[in-house]
Amino acid sequence: MYDLTGRVALVTGAGQGVGAGIARALAAQGAAVAVNDLVAARADATVLALVATGAVAVAAPFDVTDRDAVRAGVAAAEAALGGPVDILVNNAGVPVGMAMSPFRTFDPADWSRYVDLNLYGSAHCMQAVLDGMCGRGWGRIVQISSGAGHTGTRLGISLYGASKGGVEGLVRHVAQEVARDGVTVNTLALGLMSPQPDGPGGPDGPGGPDGPDGPDEVDPALTSLARQVPVGRLGRPDDVGAAVVYLVSDEAAWMTGQTIDLNGGATT
Ligand SMILES: NC(=O)c1ccc[n+]([C@@H]2O[C@H](COP(=O)([O-])OP(=O)(O)OC[C@H]3O[C@@H](n4cnc5c(N)ncnc54)[C@H](O)[C@@H]3O)[C@@H](O)[C@H]2O)c1
Repeated sequence: MYDLTGRVALVTGAGQGVGAGIARALAAQGAAVAVNDLVAARADATVLALVATGAVAVAAPFDVTDRDAVRAGVAAAEAALGGPVDILVNNAGVPVGMAMSPFRTFDPADWSRYVDLNLYGSAHCMQAVLDGMCGRGWGRIVQISSGAGHTGTRLGISLYGASKGGVEGLVRHVAQEVARDGVTVNTLALGLMSPQPDGPGGPDGPGGPDGPDGPDEVDPALTSLARQVPVGRLGRPDDVGAAVVYLVSDEAAWMTGQTIDLNGGATT
């Protein structure tokens, strides 16, 4: 089950954190993986680690908010891997240098960064691969979102949450449009993730208001947050990777258009 041999996958923002975990999981199931990141050195590092395990992987450094760069980057990755993208995971979703602020003082000059990345960036990547997927009659798209996309908080991440909510809506519509073409489109809405040793994490991760810095074994605030999660710990990239593997498998052909909360039971 869940054999991805012969599939080509593109994971955005996979130079660290959750995206790197997703890339690892897909590669472990046999997929060839294009590792995207805005920061080329991060993409290279993930590729090196994958190749060391015997996987087939190439770096695909581009900015998902730049439509032309996305199209060129996808074409280059497909040429390097010798086949079209069958699986897209839109994981890039944390703008570089993201800051938290209550909405009343949230600088309007910053609003577009969230929408550009989470809504338009994801849309660019989907449009770049969907024609091919529909033409071949098979494709899998997984959107990584956050509980903040459909649950209000007082964390000062309103525009981030709104951009996640926006892309969750986009996924529902696209899923319906391509359902008869053998293409599924689903969203995984993540809860609190553990800090990753190889990266700063996200707004609701390490360094963020609901994911303080430091490993959960030693940071009291993080330990406290982890205890509030029903299963008693924060999420790990491999938790997300496992869920993605299911969603992109042949076996998940009847699952589409869904927003699935993956959060240790934090909301049920
Ligand atoms: N960390 C958490 O607690 C948490 C919780 C809920 C949801 N999420 C979601 O999970 C996903 C991954 O989060 P993470 O914590 O691993 O993030 P991260 O910041 O650790 O890594 C994301 C990567 O995306 C890259 N990136 C940023 N902008 C990009 C762009 N324009 N084009 C290409 N790459 C770009 C960054 O360089 C970085 O390497 C995001 O969509 C985030 O919103 C994270």
